[in-house]
Amino acid sequence: MNEYTHKIAIKQCKLEVCSACQNDCKYCAHGYMKKFYPDYHLELSQLQTFLESCLNSGYFIEYLTINGPGEPLLWKHLEAGLNMIETYINCIGTVNLFTNGILLPSLCEAIITSCSKIKIFLSGYEYNVGSESIKNFTDKYPDLITFLPKDKFVLLPAKREVYETPCECFCPGPMLFGDKMFLFCGPPVFGAAFNLNIDIISRFELYTEVKQGWFDEYLERGLHLDNKNNYRPVVSMDLCSCCWGNSYNHLSEDRKVIHSLNGGNWC
Ligand SMILES: C[S@@+](CC[C@H](N)C(=O)[O-])C[C@H]1O[C@@H](n2cnc3c(N)ncnc32)[C@H](O)[C@@H]1O
Ligand code: SF4
Ligand code: SF4
Repeated sequence: MNEYTHKIAIKQCKLEVCSACQNDCKYCAHGYMKKFYPDYHLELSQLQTFLESCLNSGYFIEYLTINGPGEPLLWKHLEAGLNMIETYINCIGTVNLFTNGILLPSLCEAIITSCSKIKIFLSGYEYNVGSESIKNFTDKYPDLITFLPKDKFVLLPAKREVYETPCECFCPGPMLFGDKMFLFCGPPVFGAAFNLNIDIISRFELYTEVKQGWFDEYLERGLHLDNKNNYRPVVSMDLCSCCWGNSYNHLSEDRKVIHSLNGGNWC
């Protein structure tokens, strides 16, 4: 037990930090979010408002995930942001950072010294596999860095595809995006909105402002966790019917495609 009396443990929460990316993966599941907001960077003031809201609400986030929508190591506030998270670390269990690895050799030490509870998940794209400089870091920090070999990606749903709802969402919220807390959805909801010609910002039921008690709204708006109380809420929205986050429930071999670093035309 730490110095705060936590009323609510939140299993996981995503921080969307920037859209920039050196790659342009054809099947990037975050592609539409990057396309709609190509210049996006989470500001430090927005991060602070979020962390303060968690502290003041008595929330403890078991896993704080930093994974996009682009490449987190290109976030203009990376070090300052991690240092800020460190000052609120009593509200957070583990910080999971996903990276394409390109800047890992130059930033790894700074990341690890900035945040005491960080775990790095390194996407194993073709340029990383067998790379000496990457191997130096994975050998040096075997408990901190996990290599995720990526040969297959899961196709993005096409406009005409329709999946059953309710579904167990594979890429759920809550997700901090700028000054908004998306309660149910992760980045794939932007692709679903594209498929349905919906302006997502007009869908006020999807998000709330970042304020004390924001997670209480998550519960009040009728969201149910699955029967193991795990990360995947059971959701039923029009958007789920054509979302990548639902397509995982209908995964067949022909939906898994060879990963390609090019061709997305996202940003
Ligand atoms: C969107 S990326 C953001 C972080 C970083 N740019 C990277 O590539 O690791 C987060 C994770 O989602 C994975 N991902 C993205 N699109 C995917 C897809 N269509 N199928 C499977 N995994 C995907 C990436 O490989 C990465 O591990
Ligand atoms: S999956 Fe590819 S394009 Fe998407 S954010 Fe990661 S490296 Fe960039
Ligand atoms: S499957 Fe539904 S809840 Fe999950 S991200 Fe997509 S639209 Fe949101």
